[in-house]
Amino acid sequence: MKLFSIFQMGPIELKNRLVMAPMTRCRANNDNTPNDLMTTYYQQRCEAGLIITEGTSPSPNGLGYARIPGLFNQQQVDGWKKVTDAVHEKGGKIFMQLMHTGRVSHPDNMPEGSEIIAPSAIAMTGEMYTDKNGMQVYPVPKAMTITDIEKTQQEYIYAAENAIEAGFDGVELHGANGYLIDQFINTASNIRVDAYGGSGKYRCRFAIEVATKVAAAIGRDRTGIRLSPYGAFNDMEVFPELEETYEYLASELGKLRLAYIHIVDHSSMGAPPVSDAVKSKIRDAFGGVIIASGGFDKELAETALENGVGDLVAFGRPFLANPDLVKRFQEDIALNAPDFDTFYTPGEKGYTDYPTVEE
Ligand SMILES: Cc1cc2nc3c(=O)[nH]c(=O)nc-3n(C[C@H](O)[C@H](O)[C@H](O)COP(=O)(O)O)c2cc1C
Repeated sequence: MKLFSIFQMGPIELKNRLVMAPMTRCRANNDNTPNDLMTTYYQQRCEAGLIITEGTSPSPNGLGYARIPGLFNQQQVDGWKKVTDAVHEKGGKIFMQLMHTGRVSHPDNMPEGSEIIAPSAIAMTGEMYTDKNGMQVYPVPKAMTITDIEKTQQEYIYAAENAIEAGFDGVELHGANGYLIDQFINTASNIRVDAYGGSGKYRCRFAIEVATKVAAAIGRDRTGIRLSPYGAFNDMEVFPELEETYEYLASELGKLRLAYIHIVDHSSMGAPPVSDAVKSKIRDAFGGVIIASGGFDKELAETALENGVGDLVAFGRPFLANPDLVKRFQEDIALNAPDFDTFYTPGEKGYTDYPTVEE
């Protein structure tokens, strides 16, 4: 099967086409440093052709959720180094997902001295979980000034350099699911009237600048990006000329010759469908490696690879619940079901205790 064949992604050889999708698991220490439990979790899943880590913040300002890791200080670099060593030791490859939460945040989750920033001062609807005080209403974020934008882009660069120092094979910029980069792209969260808002082209500027700068710092073939056209998560909306906007963005990212675009389709999780048309527009405009994700099983993945929908296929919940997913697929062994109640709870339960076939 194509799924189990080697794939050469620029300078990086992947032992198969199965990618472990990025998944926030909220198992980091309270001070947002990675720990040995996380090392175990990622090492258990090292048979993936490529692991993409949970969303990890490039800045104290991007730590919107409780117990998510960062990659902006030495302690975090040292912690992540243990993770990459453990994965490499077993022949795996691992990219760091850089996720700045922007307005998807609450002060109760954030370190002292940080601030909640976003393209525009528009709050999310509803409430979010905090360890300190339970459910809390989303606050109105501060609209980023040009200085904030420059500073934040610099933080992405430092974090990407830290990722390389920590031994990662590359980074994935989280441009999907309503987090900071997506907040710039989407009209629901961006009503700016300067060079970073207004037309689709201007709303893509932040994404393109971050990608350009990170690629220049660590190498274009070590820099990927995740995008979610038609994504509805975190209050994102379908906006006019959506497909043209993503086509433009993909063509600009193609000029940068990034390592890949990772396309999210969360229709299997209740989000609006992502048309084949927009997926192929992105693929054609980009002209590079595409990772398909969302709702795949072994058969659907093989079909997607055969039809050229993607070069690689990412699996989220199946990898979460099956450390030996590759073996189970290869030998047609039934999968463990994911336990939703322990997706984001601290400790090893529902994290490192999913059994392998042998166990
Ligand atoms: C517990 C959990 C946490 C997630 N966290 C992230 C994240 O940090 N970054 C991201 O881009 N997507 C995140 N996702 C989305 C997954 O990467 C993936 O797109 C989604 O689960 C659909 O794929 P699946 O059907 O294979 O599970 C998360 C999904 C789950 C289930």
